[in-house]
Amino acid sequence: MSEHNQQEEVRSGELLGDEAFHAKTPGVAPSQSKGGQHAYFSVWNLHAYYGESYIVQGVSFDIREGEIVALLGRNGAGKTSTLRALARVDSPELRSGEIWLDHKPLHEMSSHEAARNGLGLVPEDRRIIQGLTVEENLQLAQIAPPIGWSIERVYDLFPRLGERRNQDGVTLSGGEQQMLAVARALVRDIKLLLLDEPYEGLAPIIVKEIEKTLEQIKSLGMTTIIVEQNAVAALHLADRALILDMGQIVFDGTAQEVLDNEELRHEYLAI
Ligand SMILES: Nc1ncnc2c1ncn2[C@@H]1O[C@H](COP(=O)(O)OP(=O)(O)OP(=O)(O)O)[C@@H](O)[C@H]1O
Ligand SMILES: [Mg+2]
Repeated sequence: MSEHNQQEEVRSGELLGDEAFHAKTPGVAPSQSKGGQHAYFSVWNLHAYYGESYIVQGVSFDIREGEIVALLGRNGAGKTSTLRALARVDSPELRSGEIWLDHKPLHEMSSHEAARNGLGLVPEDRRIIQGLTVEENLQLAQIAPPIGWSIERVYDLFPRLGERRNQDGVTLSGGEQQMLAVARALVRDIKLLLLDEPYEGLAPIIVKEIEKTLEQIKSLGMTTIIVEQNAVAALHLADRALILDMGQIVFDGTAQEVLDNEELRHEYLAI
């Protein structure tokens, strides 16, 4: 298959008309059709590789400001790779496609530049820095402007982090480490939060706690993409859902449509 072949089989969702039209119209970003308005975050025809291994195969979608989008799919579907391509880390290598965040071309940027322009990736492994306290982890995230939330505001949202501000970050519980990883993104001035499996490895009671915090972040209007194996939890938080399969978007629609569509859930999510 040519790398610029668009997926033929996009499942019906509210954006299908636009997506299908633009998929066949190279050079026109999907966002530019809606009354001439650019989407807040617009991804067009991403192709990314690990060496010669072709993984992200023509991914396109739009996100409106304040929207929460669940990016779902089976193990190995390419969710983490897509988030990494969006964050402009070196691997996978983005060979073509466009990424626009609030009118800025992230596809032309390094990962540091993308971060400075508002992209906040919270990776699966959380990357808490050993030997630094909770507060030092937060201060380090704020080392370069633009600064986002104050550390005191973070402690208001996550009182447990406030109580543990002088504790070594790596000695936090899994749930607390996840809070710290999200908090590190918030103390930077981010426009788009990318969460890779925030519930992974956490007990159900802790998942509930992180869910509550994400609800609060949602109510503040933070535009977010959440990747989760726990699809039901992610769909309850999200406004919209994208389903990836073999590096391609096979569904783009509302979260409720996925919850209501047993066949779709069974085929791509095994739930
Ligand atoms: N560094 C790498 N080098 C080569 N192939 C890779 C690399 N990382 C991931 N892959 C491959 O890319 C594909 C997509 O992986 P990815 O991690 O994006 O999937 P995922 O949807 O996040 O899966 P999971 O739900 O298991 O986290 C897989 O086939 C994986 O083996
Ligand atoms: Mg993954």
